[in-house]
Amino acid sequence: MADLDDIRDGQRFGLDTPADTSKFFLKGLNNSDWGMKNRLSRIFNPKSGNTVMLAFDHGFLMGPTSGLERIDLNIAPLAEHADCLMACRGSLRTCIPPENNKPVCLRADTGTTILTELNHNVLLSEEEMIRMNSSALAAMIAVGDAATEAKTLANFSRLVDIGNRHSIPVMCVTAVGKDMARDSRYFGLAARVGAENGASIVKTYYTEGFENVVACTPVPIVIAGGKKLPELEALEMAYNAIQAGAAGVDMGRNVFQSDAPVAMIKAVGGVVHDGLKPKEALDLFETVKAES
Ligand code: R5P
Repeated sequence: MADLDDIRDGQRFGLDTPADTSKFFLKGLNNSDWGMKNRLSRIFNPKSGNTVMLAFDHGFLMGPTSGLERIDLNIAPLAEHADCLMACRGSLRTCIPPENNKPVCLRADTGTTILTELNHNVLLSEEEMIRMNSSALAAMIAVGDAATEAKTLANFSRLVDIGNRHSIPVMCVTAVGKDMARDSRYFGLAARVGAENGASIVKTYYTEGFENVVACTPVPIVIAGGKKLPELEALEMAYNAIQAGAAGVDMGRNVFQSDAPVAMIKAVGGVVHDGLKPKEALDLFETVKAES
């Protein structure tokens, strides 16, 4: 039993000593199997080391939210500009042409909606994960939520067992537990819990002090975009996350709720892959928007 009355915050993050990526370009994953590395190399660009994942899995929780009313019209045209599509099986099967060649990060847990209690999820079947030709599998963990923490971590561990059986990387999605502060201490804890439970990728939220979250998480981190922001602010967030060591984004609303989603995903790609500064990326956004 851990001593809960003497948990000392970490101090030695070694920020001046980067993780060794000389053997495989993604940190912490050199000991993975060939199939796992090959799938990861489809999701993350081996040149930049980063990824722009397009998240449109929101509908299973919240229905046809703004920008996701028609996945066939609003999302399918964005696919070619993303490195990876993160979605549920229903929208993939019904609205994304199977000729689409982008790797899929399948949302592999389901079970509750915004109308009830969130996070009481179960996993899809193992066969279904394979049938969807998943390049990665994603499930949420609710660290700090007394009602669902244990269940979501058990789900997640089982998903990692399934992923490992087939060399499919698993991404941990850190839901913010009720009453949890959205700070680097909390996100560092949640991200580390995901990695310790076998995540190959951790998805969390950007916050001040993010370099500590990245440093204490031994696998690549991608950030969620969160609720819609003005384009420049979203690009600044992506830029700051990359500067702090994030390996990309898994962004949804800040792309598909923009009034120019193609321009926005291209601008985010400029930040993530080409090192554009936020203002430069905004210029790219405005240029592409004007052309469309
Ligand atoms: C949350 O459970 C989902 O994985 C969302 O896809 C995620 O939060 C990313 O979307 P957004 O950028 O809209 O926050």
